[in-house]
Amino acid sequence: MSVKGFKKDFLWGGATAANQYEGAYNEGGKGLSTADMVKFVPKEERVGGHSLDVTKEEIQAILDGRSNATFPKRFGTDFYHRYAEDIALLAEMGFKVFRLSINWARIFPNGDDTEPNEEGLAFYDKVFDECQKHGIEPLVTLSHYETPLNLTLKYNGWTDRKVVDFFLNYAEAVFKRYKDKVTYWLTFNEINIVTMSPYTGAGVLTEGAENPMQLSYQAAHHQFVASALTTKLAREINPEFQVGCMLARSTFYPETNNPEDVLLAQNENQMNLFFTDVHARGEYPSYMERYFEENNIHIQKERGDDEILKAYTVDFISFSYYMSLSVSSKESDDSVGGNLFGGVKNNYLETSDWGWQIDPIGLRYTLNDMYSRYQKPLFIVENGLGAYDEVEEDGSIHDDYRIDYLRKHIEQMREAVKDGIDLMGYTAWGCIDLVSASTSEMAKRYGFVYVDQDDHGNGTLDRSRKDSFFWYKKVIESNGEDLA
Ligand code: BG6
Repeated sequence: MSVKGFKKDFLWGGATAANQYEGAYNEGGKGLSTADMVKFVPKEERVGGHSLDVTKEEIQAILDGRSNATFPKRFGTDFYHRYAEDIALLAEMGFKVFRLSINWARIFPNGDDTEPNEEGLAFYDKVFDECQKHGIEPLVTLSHYETPLNLTLKYNGWTDRKVVDFFLNYAEAVFKRYKDKVTYWLTFNEINIVTMSPYTGAGVLTEGAENPMQLSYQAAHHQFVASALTTKLAREINPEFQVGCMLARSTFYPETNNPEDVLLAQNENQMNLFFTDVHARGEYPSYMERYFEENNIHIQKERGDDEILKAYTVDFISFSYYMSLSVSSKESDDSVGGNLFGGVKNNYLETSDWGWQIDPIGLRYTLNDMYSRYQKPLFIVENGLGAYDEVEEDGSIHDDYRIDYLRKHIEQMREAVKDGIDLMGYTAWGCIDLVSASTSEMAKRYGFVYVDQDDHGNGTLDRSRKDSFFWYKKVIESNGEDLA
């Protein structure tokens, strides 16, 4: 058997999410979603490096008009009105695939409505038609960091089993509508985020809860069941559909070869891979029993849930990879951040402007590790560098730091493919600049395409090509061979 590079039909592209990109939060009959309540918090006032969580009181104040904060996720970078221009830019780079999410509240404004909102459905028809025109495959996330706000207020989000049915109604409506326009689907973006920010991942408010982790894992169980039943539905509606799960993967290294550190790293990796274990193997892994018991977590399952999880496992596994993290059994003040995770500093690695560790070899390791665990096709649906970009007087943007980051990761991805893993594709995060998930900043940019807008929503929204745009075009043209 010869060692080959990327397969011929490798899906090169980029990724976005409605809550950070689409804007038009109150147009086209869309209802409010949880992300519309997240306000901009200046860096110095941010607790724990991010500003994602919202309290019930804050939501009430916003709804009563008692808040004068800025809500960047409401305006995103205006994909809603500029989708044709944006998709043309992606096509110019040679995109084979474009990852986007459908905003649930655009289709079911309250989440528990019985009929979908036609205007919302018509919007995504136009988007998918535009993709089709350019020969780009859409990769659609059904739920990316937003839940119709009504489901949070009325049911406390995914803690309530009823939300499973509401989600299935939504999935059915879009599966039927886009049956001939979309093949690749993801159920929940970074499903494991529910344990770190339950509001973001599952529309769950935890204030006053005796055991917030109980709520998180119960919500996760409902999402697992919803994901499995969605997979079942997908196969019934169109047997060609491919459904994947999506994990925020953070590979944990032991800080030293002290067995205590090694064990701790193993444990952190298990807590992370728990979510893909359920999706791919179709059952709760035995290592969680002890964790649940020791943390007083009791998952309420309905009769038949275990069979559902077993019967409808995913077709492929997708994940985001931005960094690796190191853990230590000793107390340490030298910590580093991540998109919600944290760890101790790894002296072999550099960090981004936002303190995220940069570890391309970790991607090769992660791909090998996950492939040997699951033997299912893998898809990297997020990777990239959040950085400050400078616009030169002539309008050019020389983002060599981004090119360097992406090049090193793609090199390692190619090595992993040569190692024998089955990789379907790669979608670089935030291919067109959009609002940051964790900080709601515009200043933190990932794109190949620059969008003229600041943290407060000022700017022309004009699009321009960064140096990385031309570089990525070459990468795609050469199917990942020309990374120079
Ligand atoms: C992932 C999310 O965690 O990381 C995206 O799925 C997010 O929504 C991305 O934007 C990068 O994180 P951030 O906070 O830099 O936007």
